[in-house]
Amino acid sequence: MSEIAKLELNGTTYELPVIEGTENEKGIDIGKLRGSTGGYITIDPGFKNTGSTKSAITYLDGENGILRYRGYSIEELAEKASFLEVAYLVIYGELPTTEQNEVFTHSITNHTLVHEDMKQFFEAYPAKAHPMGVLSSMVCSLSTFYPESLDQDRDEEAIDLTIHRLIAKLPTLAAWSYKNSMRHPVVYPQNDLDYCENFLSMMFAMPTSEYKVDRTVVTALNKLLILHADHEQNCSTSTVRLVGSSHANLYASISAGISALWGPLHGGANQAVIEMLEQIHNDGGDVDKWVAKAKDKSDSFRLMGFGHRVYKNFDPRATIIKVACDDVLDKMGVDDPLLAIAKKLEKVALEDEYFKARNLYPNVDFYSGIIYKAIGIPTEMFTVMFSIGRLPGWIAQWKEMRENNEPIGRPRQIYTGYNVRDYVSIEKR
Ligand code: CMC
Repeated sequence: MSEIAKLELNGTTYELPVIEGTENEKGIDIGKLRGSTGGYITIDPGFKNTGSTKSAITYLDGENGILRYRGYSIEELAEKASFLEVAYLVIYGELPTTEQNEVFTHSITNHTLVHEDMKQFFEAYPAKAHPMGVLSSMVCSLSTFYPESLDQDRDEEAIDLTIHRLIAKLPTLAAWSYKNSMRHPVVYPQNDLDYCENFLSMMFAMPTSEYKVDRTVVTALNKLLILHADHEQNCSTSTVRLVGSSHANLYASISAGISALWGPLHGGANQAVIEMLEQIHNDGGDVDKWVAKAKDKSDSFRLMGFGHRVYKNFDPRATIIKVACDDVLDKMGVDDPLLAIAKKLEKVALEDEYFKARNLYPNVDFYSGIIYKAIGIPTEMFTVMFSIGRLPGWIAQWKEMRENNEPIGRPRQIYTGYNVRDYVSIEKR
């Protein structure tokens, strides 16, 4: 028998249906609450208890540290799959067959080039422009080059083309924003390289020297992108869905997602981790002092890369990436004082009662920042890397929302401002 929740309000009992997901997650459906109670809404700042949609893309169990894309465990995908295979899985729902994989990979490889006119946009940005600002603007600008993407009634084939263009061009835009920040000539995509190799080549090759791809780096990058590919209804993904719910085009929706990801409480944390480690290093490297600051409620300092809204035991992505991180540092023989501070911080925080009581564990961004630093990605590009990884998830969620014909997202509020008052002319104020 299906469960029913009962709400008692001013002597009346309202019955609210309970909906259940395929992993027995339960939600109380309040869709008719306002109408039947004469105006009552629920309030939940930060949406800590609010489900915004039903979704078949990603399953996440924060208590038990489980993350699966379309039913496949993140551990298995990170170990065995390529990023493009995972992108296909997340977006289209199934792992590609050999033929589907070939067609998809071929299409992505052949759309990597960015219109030459866009190069002028890059040149107009100041060298110190943050690459996330550039990336978000450039992705939105793509819509101006492909105006047919504005048509909401396009057929599936046309939507697929936009999807392929986005996946293909994001690494090019990302690498070019980096090259531009150094006022270096851009490196064009190379069709004989795979997705990760091509990105690394566009980042690090110089007109005067060829870039030699390092397998350890490619493997680590492939893993990192897979681990970031989707994370259900997080801040940036909810943003993509919300923007898309107004029937804004896919480029605009993804651009909004990139902006949401930028913040240090979300994807910007990987950059913030390295900046924090530098701060601790420059301050003499006293880890205990900074841990004490993080615990002090009168101090706004937080340990970046620790804690998570949904993972309350461990972040399964962090477990995988910690191993990859050790591997990269080992193989590349990196000797960096910041890494020593990171290790110390990890140990102290994991043993400290404050962090244990609040279930604050190192999250994926703690380790991803360290790997990116070791492979030579500049700190300001870290969140850009996260965007490349998260792109398939954003696309899949936008597509699902569209296919489910979801209504425009429009939360309510409880108004706490002034009651009606009379206008006072400026001389009398
Ligand atoms: N350092 C010190 N104390 C912390 C931290 C931290 N990093 N994170 C949470 N707390 C404390 C917080 O002060 C609160 O303490 P109390 O109960 O005594 O008031 C308690 O832990 C619960 O914190 P919260 O802010 O209510 O938790 P939240 O779920 O709203 O926030 C978070 C989650 C990720 C925003 C937060 O843990 C944080 O700011 N972490 C640092 C930034 C970070 O690493 N973000 C990346 C998240 S992973 C990438 C992604 O998926 O976006």
